[in-house]
Amino acid sequence: MSTLKEVLRKKIDEHRPRTTRLVKEFGDVKLGDVTISQAIGGARGIKCLVTDISYLDPFEGIRFRGMTIPETFAALPKVPGSDYPYVEGFWYLLLTGDVPTMEQTLEVVEAWKAKAQLPTYVIDVLRAMPRDTHPMTMFSAGILAMQRDSVFAKNYAAGKFNKMTCWEDMFEDCDNMMAKLGTLGAYIYRMKYCGDTHIEADPALDMGGQFAHLIGQCEEYKDVARMYFILHSDHESGNVSAHTTHLVASALSDAYYSYSAGINGLAGPLHGLANEEVLRWTQNFMAKLGGKVPTEEELKQALWDTLNSGQVIPGYGHAVLRKTDPRYTSQREFCINTPGLADYPLFQLVKMIFEVAPGVLTEHGKAKNPWPNVDAQSGVIQWYYGVNQYEFYTVLFGIGRALGCLANITWDRALGYAIERPKSVTTAMLEEAAGVK
Ligand SMILES: CC(C)(COP(=O)(O)OP(=O)(O)OC[C@H]1O[C@@H](n2cnc3c(N)ncnc32)[C@H](O)[C@@H]1OP(=O)(O)O)[C@@H](O)C(=O)NCCC(=O)NCCS
Repeated sequence: MSTLKEVLRKKIDEHRPRTTRLVKEFGDVKLGDVTISQAIGGARGIKCLVTDISYLDPFEGIRFRGMTIPETFAALPKVPGSDYPYVEGFWYLLLTGDVPTMEQTLEVVEAWKAKAQLPTYVIDVLRAMPRDTHPMTMFSAGILAMQRDSVFAKNYAAGKFNKMTCWEDMFEDCDNMMAKLGTLGAYIYRMKYCGDTHIEADPALDMGGQFAHLIGQCEEYKDVARMYFILHSDHESGNVSAHTTHLVASALSDAYYSYSAGINGLAGPLHGLANEEVLRWTQNFMAKLGGKVPTEEELKQALWDTLNSGQVIPGYGHAVLRKTDPRYTSQREFCINTPGLADYPLFQLVKMIFEVAPGVLTEHGKAKNPWPNVDAQSGVIQWYYGVNQYEFYTVLFGIGRALGCLANITWDRALGYAIERPKSVTTAMLEEAAGVK
């Protein structure tokens, strides 16, 4: 058994009595009341999901297993010659809550390398789709196609379901999937945008580095991939992709069914697609100005024009955060510290938007959070390195988001979380509760 699985088993055994006790002895303790606006407004803020993988503080931003983003980057073992950690070590951290040693990290690196190749039938599925199919559709279909190899589904069908040990099959599926997602994304990228030419994997590379290599990127981009996957990994359980994955898994669906569904949610313009929207908005604006740097007044006007036409300012606002997203800050720092990128005109404009947009959104008075989120910055970095296929950005997000979603459903299964079934009410019931006719 791998060290990761052994440690995970120990952690699960230690954790289970906590969950059992809470349900048995304190099951009636209230966490809050639900208001009519929460029932109509997307269940915003209702405390009804449990996860220990990450926690989102409205003012501080995300913590992964209790650590802020800078703390996480500092603590994890780094790829030799790089300032960024192994994605594989981060997977270990999300699953176990422990910062792995270099040896433990390398064990995952080697395990993923050994199973990173895509099965031929997955490639066949991708190739059967029209080439202009959206890459998120291909990504989701590729994941779903892999369901054929689900260890959980096979064992369940063979009557080998055991509530106490079924997390092991879920873990195998999640770990197997994680090993292949970079390869899947890269295959779609090369097939769609690089004349269907493909690059051989380099056996020396870690998952992030390999992804950069497979899409044909430069050395520097290896760190972009590592940073990007880690930053996009997890944002608590209530966001659309994480919640969808959890919801589907709660029906005892396997990891492939569950994450393919999560990916479909991530494809929505208000969720993962926003990074694409940000870049489109910024570049359209630059084109309108004929490439010149706008004045503050011109920028303000463009932001107001967007708002007055009933559209949102992409990359700004958040359902939970009430401050600049630290994932935005982290990517901004990468830009500032990377020669060439620091004075890249598009980055200069993004910086300017950061100075102007919060004031405009505050004056507009609708958005509860006028500050930038992760998407306000990420497209610019991709564009700078020549990944200029907007529609692919959400696939990058999806590779990273898998780390969080899959760690969560492994734990869901280990702790025996029940099938989700919130209760509906009718509009008339709400009116009655409100005392209106
Ligand atoms: C992220 C987002 C979907 C959160 O939605 P939310 O939780 O409903 O946000 P709020 O509670 O602040 O929304 C209140 C109002 O402000 C509006 N608002 C929120 N963010 C806005 C923005 N960036 N630009 C303009 N209006 C915005 C909402 O559309 C809503 O308007 P409505 O009352 O007419 O429906 C929203 O901020 C948004 O659409 N942002 C732009 C897209 C984006 O960046 N998505 C990526 C998120 S990581």
